[in-house]
Amino acid sequence: MKATAKAHTNIALIKYWGKRDESLILPTNNSLSLTLDGFYTKTTVEFREDLARDIFYLDEERISGVQYDRVRNFLDLIRNHADKKDLYAQVHSINEVPTAAGFASSASGFAALAAAGSRALGMQLSDQELSRLTRQGSGSACRSVYGGFAEWQQGVEADGSDSYAVPVAPADHWDIRVAAVVLSAKMKKVSSREGMKRTVDTSPFFRSWVNSIPADLEEIKQGITERDFDKVGHIAEANCLKMHATTLGARPPFTYWTDATMAVMQAVQALRANGIPAFFTIDAGPNVKVLYLPENEIEVEKALRNVPEVTDVILSRSGQGISYN
Ligand code: PMV
Repeated sequence: MKATAKAHTNIALIKYWGKRDESLILPTNNSLSLTLDGFYTKTTVEFREDLARDIFYLDEERISGVQYDRVRNFLDLIRNHADKKDLYAQVHSINEVPTAAGFASSASGFAALAAAGSRALGMQLSDQELSRLTRQGSGSACRSVYGGFAEWQQGVEADGSDSYAVPVAPADHWDIRVAAVVLSAKMKKVSSREGMKRTVDTSPFFRSWVNSIPADLEEIKQGITERDFDKVGHIAEANCLKMHATTLGARPPFTYWTDATMAVMQAVQALRANGIPAFFTIDAGPNVKVLYLPENEIEVEKALRNVPEVTDVILSRSGQGISYN
């Protein structure tokens, strides 16, 4: 009744921004991401007859409170699925996702937990079933089931049965790289959950955001197939800017950007002006991720480290999907 799984985090090039169902975690648009090899979570789940409740260790530390509740609630889903309602688990997770880099460790965390938990109870889930289960822990996590590029299909069903990720291109299709730029900024004040909700409920820009997604997706998928870096980069950067624009129209308005975020964005645009193709993307926080090609790695890293507000730059390649043991 024990299994171990490893899942990598992913960065969205077409963002998931808005829910149509809060509790089932169903999105208002499709999204597309790249899984990264540098950042992962490894989780062991052991279901044991002698436990009276679930126990959760993260990086060797026993966890309680909100983080524990999210894990327990998710284990409930797995238990219900397997019809093993009174069987509790000990969970050990090791996070290789530096929180300072601004990656949601929940993406790799819930993907690894879903994979290890379902396997420990003897469930043989297809990738599609696993992605659908993972989605209910953290939306963006459903894309981490796959390596390389993956698309989360929003689906139309009210029960979420057709909302899961599908593979677009494997990690070895294209050696595209991502620099995670760490800034001397504080923790985000508006969580992605709260930010999305406020945007959906109040921003007049939200509809236009949603309406613009199908064209972005079609074009970026074409760019990925053709390994057209300029096309993929331009669409990803513009899509990120549109997502962040919706937050300025919300009531009350908010932004995830700081002056350091802007400084990095300008450094990336300066690289392009100097003939080096590089593009930025930003999630629900101040940190910036930069897409580049291997032949430009030295110049890109140097330019980013030269920005005074930058405290670290972590380079990553395209990563694999879920693996066991
Ligand atoms: O799944 P969450 O709640 O971590 O939301 C992620 C939202 C963004 O990171 C901003 C975009 C995305 O698609 O990952």
